[in-house]
Formats: sequence, structure tokens, C-alpha cells
Amino acid sequence: MNEFAQQKSKEFKRYTVTSALPYANGPVHIGHLAGVYVPADIYARYLRSKGRDIIFIGGSDEHGVPITIKARMENVTPQDIVDKYHYMIKESFEKFGISFDVYSRTSAAIHHETASAFFKKLFDEGKLLEKESEQFYDEVNNQFLADRYITGTCPHCSYEKAYGDQCESCGTSLSATDLIKPKSVLSGNKPVMKKTKHWYLPLQDYEPMLRKWILEGHKNDWKSNVYGQCKSWIDQGLQPRAVTRDLDWGVKVPVDGAEGKVLYVWFDAPIGYISATREWGKENNREWESYWKSNDSKLVHFIGKDNIVFHCIIFPSMLYAEGSYILPENVPANEFLNLEGDKISTSRNWAVWLHEYLEEFPGQQDVLRYVLCAAAPETKDNDFTWKDFQARNNSELLAIYGNFVNRTLVLTHKYFEGKVPGRGQLTENDNAVIEQIARYPQIIANSLESYRFREALGELMNLARLGNKYLTENEPWKIFKTDPERVKTIMNVSLQICTSLAILSEPFLPFTAEKLTNMLAIDCMKWDKAETAENILKEGHVMNQPGFLFTKIEDETIQHQIDKLVNTRKSNEDNENSKAEPFKEDIGFDDFVKLDLRIATIIEAEKVAKTKKLLKLTLDTGNDKRTVVSGIAEFYQPEEIKGRQVVLLANLQPKVIKGIESHGMILMASNSNGELAFVQPDKVINNGGLIS
Ligand code: MF3
Ligand code: ZN
Repeated sequence: MNEFAQQKSKEFKRYTVTSALPYANGPVHIGHLAGVYVPADIYARYLRSKGRDIIFIGGSDEHGVPITIKARMENVTPQDIVDKYHYMIKESFEKFGISFDVYSRTSAAIHHETASAFFKKLFDEGKLLEKESEQFYDEVNNQFLADRYITGTCPHCSYEKAYGDQCESCGTSLSATDLIKPKSVLSGNKPVMKKTKHWYLPLQDYEPMLRKWILEGHKNDWKSNVYGQCKSWIDQGLQPRAVTRDLDWGVKVPVDGAEGKVLYVWFDAPIGYISATREWGKENNREWESYWKSNDSKLVHFIGKDNIVFHCIIFPSMLYAEGSYILPENVPANEFLNLEGDKISTSRNWAVWLHEYLEEFPGQQDVLRYVLCAAAPETKDNDFTWKDFQARNNSELLAIYGNFVNRTLVLTHKYFEGKVPGRGQLTENDNAVIEQIARYPQIIANSLESYRFREALGELMNLARLGNKYLTENEPWKIFKTDPERVKTIMNVSLQICTSLAILSEPFLPFTAEKLTNMLAIDCMKWDKAETAENILKEGHVMNQPGFLFTKIEDETIQHQIDKLVNTRKSNEDNENSKAEPFKEDIGFDDFVKLDLRIATIIEAEKVAKTKKLLKLTLDTGNDKRTVVSGIAEFYQPEEIKGRQVVLLANLQPKVIKGIESHGMILMASNSNGELAFVQPDKVINNGGLIS
């Protein structure tokens, strides 16, 4: 066992649970929730229920180039952008019951200070390399250009609006120097190469540590998708990684000679977890360092799969280099959630947005929490559909959980005025059920501790199923008249299941758990109490009137959501179709004047035999009468175009088409669907009139 593996086997005193900081350039959607925040929140709530010392950390990631680009496009400052989304995200997380102990932001002073000091320490200890390189520079705006600020022609597919980091047409990832004819997004000018200095983290130096810690130490307890990505990164050989950028939005690089430079967003953002913890300490008058620096603290990062390398390779190398921090014990990254078969996309508005859900489904947070956990993309990408959402509510939450609780409480009120009846003689089956109930806290805990949230939720539902089965088998409503004593026992055991459900549901369905504890008239209890729930609901305890935990979701409600998506898809398609062709490369005026463009009138028109598209036209050009073959037959009948004026490219070399010599070309305008239209002067022009 190496040093890292040894660490793992010991008891932890404290838990530091982080969830990826969302970029504050858009609202949160179900993909973020299913991938990161729902599982992280379940885990955090579970640990609290177990009575563990835990902090759950979140915050907004407010730096990076996309935020500056969005600000430019909307003609506001980057701070305006992040203010708008930070508060929006924070509020919707709160309403959704994501139980952060702190939700901070990386534009906060405490973060700038923390990130800056972190960098400075590495710098002072000589742990960063300083390197000059050449980068694109916009001489009009006097600034270096991030890859996203450069466009040009893709060397792979010739798409003319590829970005410096990626071609969105063919999907290839590029570096700005690959682009043919690069152009600055800021000025439209051609950027020049200019020397610039940056600081690099020599990742290769940490390879032995990473091998030992991950490849040897966590082969068996990390998810295979996470472990696999790490292994492939390490095996490919690690390179120095630039941790600074030429940009004016971010944490200033705190060394001399670094004007106009900020920390790379992926350097500062994960330090945001630490800054947030400091903020929490300050606000709550609590010591924070042990959560990050004590070997008996367990650090767990909840992230999506696109963040794996940053949380498993780069940030740990930073922490290790700094020297006083612990490394994460686990990084349970999820795969992606799709929506109705398509990739979720912010720019294409293909998402279910949390703030909209909260408005459209008031009081139904737990339905979405349930569905996103039950269909979480834990081991592979998964699909969210509204039909599935409806089915899981109606035939699982409502039909299993809600139905069981409702039957139990309604019957207890009916037969015993809402007072918990005592137990009589227990049957063999009663005892077996009581034993099973007692096992659930441990069963669910095992799944949760190994980050199998779907499985854990499935077990919770099995507990509700056990209750339904027990009621159905014992049929208290049939025997109450003849054997009320027996019914007391049945209801007592059923109520015990309700109590366990209330306790064990809390991490998954906190709003439901609260309602249920209110109905049962009990306090919220710690996890392990669920093992012996009969000690909670004692004989004679008076409960409150039962209400409904879940409501049926109707077809209309779902159809409305589906219609919204259908409309989004339509408008995306319209947008894509109406996108104009990219412009061709610049030409000089000399090139232009070579074209002899004239007004002419069609005096004869006839179909070209055995073709669908061609018309043979006779034109009066003022100088001559000439024949032009034109591919417009699909759009115009010969009779309807006689007498029409057209634009003629007169000096195109003659060409024989289907045996007819064509002298020039008629200019036609074309629609995105291929339809053609004449270009016509808006008053009569003499034939032969010049176009210039
Ligand atoms: N903002 C990043 C994303 O959405 C995640 C940042 S996680 C942190 O992909 F560790 F850097 F904070
Ligand atoms: Zn391309």
C-alpha cells in the first residue's frame, strides 16, 4: 500500500464536498443538475443526516473569455453579466433545495486574494516556469487575442468562420495558428504575432505523484470513466500548462512585469472552492483550514465529465505543489444528460432551465430531483424526456410512495383518530418486515457512500414498495370490523415504514420529507434512527391531518412542455436556414471592373429539350441579340418571362450547353432553399445599360 492508499482506509473526521462552480454566463439547466448538483446535494444531506461534520461548497465561476465575449456582444461590462447570472443561479439553487453551506463567487475580493496568494506562493518557490511565446495580437485594439477572439478559415473543412480554438462546422479543435486568414473579432483586422510572457505549471513534474495517487491508489474506488480518463492523460505524457493569460478580466497576476495579464480561469476557479470555504469560516466564525489541510478530512469533488482533467490532474498538481493541501478522495464525475434525444445546448436554447421549471411547477421541486436522480447519467449519457418525467411522477412517486403513505395515514385517522395504535401479537411476517425496515438505512447508505445515487434511490422506493405490499397482503380495511386489534398492529408497522421513509427520503426529496414529518408530527431525525422507527412514533402519539405528497401530472402539462421544445427546434432550424453564406475573400476594384454587367431584355424563351432545368433565352442587349442558356426552368415558365429585364454578365466566355452555344449568364438571386429569383432594375433601363 502506498501513502495515498493508506490514507484512504482510515476514518474521516470531516467532509469537504464541492460542486463544480457554474459559469455565470447563463442560467442553470437540468444537465447541470443531474450531472453535479443533485448528486452532490444528496451526498451532503446524507452526511449531515449521519451527523458528520461536513461543508458543502458552491459558487459562481465568473472569469474566462466567454463571459467577456458575451459582455461585448451585449454592450455591457463583464461584471454586469456575472452579476445578473450569479444572483439568478444562486436564487434558483436555493429554491430547488440545493443545501450549500456557502455559495460564493470568483469575482469576490476574498477569492482574488486567495487565488493571488496561491499563485504567488508557487511563483516565489520557483514552482512555475516562465516562458516566452508568440501569440496573436490586435494592433488596432492593442491587445493579445484569446483563441475565441480570432476567426478564420478552417484548414480541414474550409468553413470561413471557424474560431481560434474550434471549428463549429466540422467540430475539429484547432489552435489559432492553424486558421487560414485569421481575423481579429475585435477589429476585423489581421492579427500579428507578438512575443508574450506566461507562467506554466510543469505538470510533468507531478507525474510520479499522480501515478501513485490515482493509478495505484484509486484504481478500485474511482468510477471507471474517471479513472480511465486520468490514465489516458497520464499515459500520453503530461506537458507544462500555461496558468496565465493576456486578458483584462480575471485575477491579476501578482508579480512585476505582468501588466495586462490574469490567471487562467481554470487556475483560479478551483481555488474558488477554497475561497468559498474561507468566506464560510469568516461568516460563521468557524475555523476553515482543517477542511482543506487535515489528513483526516475527506475532499470530494462533484463534477461533469468535461471537468475531469482539471479536477483530477491539474488542480491536484496545484494543491500538491502548494504543499499544504490534501488531495481529493474521490471525484465522482457524471456523464452528460441529453434532452429529448439531443445534446443540451445553452446557445440553441435546448434545455429545461431551472428558473423556468420552478415557476412552471411550483412546489414540485422533488419531482425533478427524483427524476434527475433516477435517470442520472452515472455510467453513460442518458436522456431526459417529458414523458418519462410524467411517468416517474405518476407511476412511481404518486402510485408507490404517495399511495402507501396516504393509505396508512388516512386509515389511521379513520380507525384511531390519528393516534398511533400499539402493537399486539406480531406474526412471522410482521417480524420479517420489521427486520427488513431496519436494514434499509444501511443498504441505502452503502449505495450513497459509493456514489451510486440511482441505486440508493431505487432502494428507497423499495422500502415504499415493501409498505404497499404489507398493506395489500394484510388488508386492514377488510378486517377492521372483525379484528380491530390486529389492525392496530398492521397500522403500527405501516407507520413505522412511513417514519423510516421520512428520514431516509430527506437527502433525495427534502420537501417531501418535510411534509411527511409534519403529517407524522415528528421532528426531523438523524439517519440511524430509521433503524428502529418504533421508538419514534410511540403508542398514543397524535399525528396531524394527512395531505397529499404528490399530485398527478396531466397530459396537457407535459404537452405544453413538449410544444415549447418543438417551437425551440423550429426556430433553431429557421435560424440555421436563414444564416447567410459566409463572404468570399476580398477582391480589388480591378477585379470587379473586369465584369461586364448589363441590362438586357428577354425577347424569346423556350425549354431546352430533354432537360428539367434549362431555358434557352434570346436577349436584346442593345448591341446584339444573343442566346443565353439559363438554369431557371424549375422556377419560371417561358411565356411568363418574355419582356422581362434582367442583369447579364455579358463577357463570360461562350460555352456550349446541351448543344446550344450560350453567350453570357443571367444573374439570379437565390434563397437558402435553392429557389431562384430575377434581379431586376426598379425602372426601365435601356438595353445595354451598364451596371457598375
Ligand atoms: N465553470 C466550469 C464549468 O462549468 C466548472 C468550474 S469548476 C471549478 O465547466 F473547479 F473550476 F471551479
Ligand atoms: Zn472545419
